[in-house]
Amino acid sequence: MSTAKLIFDGKEFEFPVVVGTEDEVGVDCTKLRATTGAIALDPGYGNTGSCLSTITFIDGEKGILRYRGYPIEQVAEQASFEEVCYLLIYGHLPTQAELDDFRALLTHHSLIHESLRHFFEGFPPNAHPMMVLSAMVASLSAFYTGADGDEDVDLNIIRLLAKAKTIAALSYKKSVGQPFIYPRNDLSYTQDFLHMMFAVPTEPYEISPVLDRALNLLLILHADHEQNCSTSTVRMVGSSKANLFSAISAGISALWGPLHGGANQKVIEMLRMIQADGGDFGKYVNMAKDKDDPFRLMGFGHRVYKNFDPRATILKEAADAVLEELGTDDPQLAIAKNLEQVALEDPFFVDRRLYPNVDFYSGIIYRAMGIPTNMFTVMFALGRLPGWISQWKELTEDPHMRISRPRQVYTGAKERPFVPIAQRKEVTEEKPEFVTV
Ligand code: ACO
Repeated sequence: MSTAKLIFDGKEFEFPVVVGTEDEVGVDCTKLRATTGAIALDPGYGNTGSCLSTITFIDGEKGILRYRGYPIEQVAEQASFEEVCYLLIYGHLPTQAELDDFRALLTHHSLIHESLRHFFEGFPPNAHPMMVLSAMVASLSAFYTGADGDEDVDLNIIRLLAKAKTIAALSYKKSVGQPFIYPRNDLSYTQDFLHMMFAVPTEPYEISPVLDRALNLLLILHADHEQNCSTSTVRMVGSSKANLFSAISAGISALWGPLHGGANQKVIEMLRMIQADGGDFGKYVNMAKDKDDPFRLMGFGHRVYKNFDPRATILKEAADAVLEELGTDDPQLAIAKNLEQVALEDPFFVDRRLYPNVDFYSGIIYRAMGIPTNMFTVMFALGRLPGWISQWKELTEDPHMRISRPRQVYTGAKERPFVPIAQRKEVTEEKPEFVTV
């Protein structure tokens, strides 16, 4: 086993080097503080490996993504979303019999408890569906874990996957004021979701195979992405031994932010803004380059991919195909392509290796499918569920698991005596502004 040497404070220390199956290298610094007294400072965790994992491999320099070793391009072309859920969670591709059993379980657990259905009535009609999804998933622990947090993990995994799509569709129905549509056991996961989203009791709803295929592809492409912000959140919460539903609910909240899953909504809002402004995409590229302007090109850039995001490549082709099949002519697709073209040739983006990410084209497809903008991140969450679950399962089954507890370098005031209120002087630094109601 090779080692890495660190010279610190005039002394030499040795740390073991860990090499992964794809020759990824990590310096094991678990003994760093104990031996040197120092910690590894890495805000944003750009250099920090939080775990060993067998689930997903990414090589951001080469644009490679694999689920359990299978290239994303092959998985996207040949698998169903249920197969990908099985693969990620249980570690191998299911046989036909295993897949049939898994599908049967997923359909039979898709109803939600009627009491839980009534929770929807408490939310204001314009509540963001991501907030509703996060709250409802957390609420599942009220129904499916014991008072002391005991849970039937395998069954709860099925329940979560099965019920999340019902909850997601119901949150949409609530937002548009339509009656809730119950799940149907004769439909696949994606078909059932489309049925619960778009069917109304007054007329038959025919599930379009184009929408079904597109949804299957989108969910698969979002299914896992190793230790990103929301997955790390799931692992962090899970490390305290909080139950599955609580950990996933926290992951949903983390995904909501515009720098993460919320970017797909922001991309469409950005394209809409550019369109309304006369379609001058060059102006927005310049704004994104201007350091004094907070504007960023949404759907561009990635912490890990520094070449291209393979999911974006698949989705760019899919966007063309889906829009053509649906007979939709979306001027925002043309703006997106022009924006991409200009940015990819601009030294600012080239030098920083900023490429379109998965969110750049996904919104255009969702919109063509009739899914409203505020549901885009919910769709991302549905796709990411198997990834979060498999990462949570891997963490909780690890006999060496410890609670996640990073350290810090403290830069605040040195020790000082407490000042009684009568002797305090007004501070000149920034103060909170309280609004009097
Ligand atoms: N537009 C303009 N400039 C950008 C962009 C962008 N979208 N992204 C990064 N940059 C610039 C930064 O200003 C910085 O420039 P500097 O070195 O001159 O200061 C440089 O590129 C590096 O950017 P960081 O913010 O340091 O990169 P980081 O890895 O921390 O952030 C992130 C990655 C959050 C994805 C960022 O690229 C971003 O904000 N993108 C837009 C939001 C987005 O699309 N998010 C979805 C990500 S994919 C996902 O979560 C599914």
